[in-house]
Amino acid sequence: MTTTNSLEPIETASLDELQALQTQRLKWTLSHAYNNVPMYRRKFDAAGVHPDDFKELNDLRLFPCTTKQDLRDNYPFDTFAVPMEQVVRIHASSGTTGQPTVVGYTQNDIDTWANIVARSLRAAGATARDKVHVSYGYGLFTGGLGAHYGAERLGAAVIPMSGGQTEKQAQLIRDFQPDIIMVTPSYCLNLIEELERQMGGDASRCSLRVGVFGAEPWTLAMRNEIERRLGITALDIYGLSEVMGPGVAMECLDSAGGPTIWEDHFYPEVVNPQDGTPRADGEQGELLFTTLTKEALPVIRYRTRDLTRLLPGSSRAMRRMDRIAGRSDDMLIIRGVNVFPSQLEEEIVKFVHLAPHYQLEVRRNGHLDTLAIKVELKQSSLALSQQERCQICNNLRRRIKSMVGISTEISIVNCGSLPRSEGKAVRVCDLRTAANQ
Ligand code: DLL
Repeated sequence: MTTTNSLEPIETASLDELQALQTQRLKWTLSHAYNNVPMYRRKFDAAGVHPDDFKELNDLRLFPCTTKQDLRDNYPFDTFAVPMEQVVRIHASSGTTGQPTVVGYTQNDIDTWANIVARSLRAAGATARDKVHVSYGYGLFTGGLGAHYGAERLGAAVIPMSGGQTEKQAQLIRDFQPDIIMVTPSYCLNLIEELERQMGGDASRCSLRVGVFGAEPWTLAMRNEIERRLGITALDIYGLSEVMGPGVAMECLDSAGGPTIWEDHFYPEVVNPQDGTPRADGEQGELLFTTLTKEALPVIRYRTRDLTRLLPGSSRAMRRMDRIAGRSDDMLIIRGVNVFPSQLEEEIVKFVHLAPHYQLEVRRNGHLDTLAIKVELKQSSLALSQQERCQICNNLRRRIKSMVGISTEISIVNCGSLPRSEGKAVRVCDLRTAANQ
């Protein structure tokens, strides 16, 4: 368990102390960005604001937002605020289309990142005595190396497994007996299937105590399923490359119910996703971050496209964020209805015979969008008759119609027939052509 002794001083600071630090760090960040990144100078000048206009936290909303497109327009390195000799690491975000977003780190940035991931792991109850199995992909994706450096900083023994090689991963979990696993929730489900195969159907006897899951949205039902089948406590870690990587926020053992945002390094705001106007704490909207200490790539009011709301702090003065409800840009619009894949998942996992492996296919038929869902039957339900399968399809179709408000075509496929992800799940296949949308 996290004890008061293991908290850093800023984690026990008062709100006044935290806000004083944020104000001082924001002043530095705004000047640093304005003085060293032509893109920010242009944007501030165009908006008629200057870093000197920032006097208190509320003044931040005077400054223009930054978007993924801004970073792409300055591809690859024109957003860096330090000369290349001070950059020691480059990552790129796993964009599905177009140019990736490139991010850079100085040695101080890498140290800060390692410290906050170590803090996140401490908040998950990890100690230097633990072995940490990292299944996030290593490479340009920030998951693997971000988790790795943090676990090492904590003094834990890191097992740098990366994604893939599922059979071997499961074997090594049985042999090395790690205490903590860091992995995407969707890949964890694959690992659980393999562990169950190797362990006579029960993976909950494995050595793992806590899982640190992130990089993609996941539902409460999925979390319950992972906890039950793996016999662990599942915690949520949030982050994005543009802001740092994993560890921007972490759900703490002593205050579950939404990751705590490490507000001494990342200043959050929530805005209306349509027009960018501020929303009060507690109201749902798009999450924005301004980095407070980043040297190589400061980001000012970065629009994450993640939809959530800010919650009051619980065991710390720092605020928490609610579970991500979806992204303003993965939102599907099906015949005028806004649909988030996570809403459909919520319904799928309520069916005892269905596994949480599914794929959504969006097509355009004339002027009408159609949504087809392929969902896997659980291994234990393979004996179901054709008639029983039809019954499940009908029930699921009806539930989605009444809960989400859209008509769908459902087909049930056998366990193991949908492609498995080795990192983030690719669940939506949008077959509408861009020109048609
Ligand atoms: O996914 C960083 C990361 C790695 C976070 C490992 C946690 C664990 P990107 O590839 O830039 O970075 O993708 C960032 O992933 O804007 C969210 O939409 C989504 N995301 C990340 N964490 C969560 C989470 C990494 N805990 C994008 N819950 C973000 C829901 C998440 N969505």
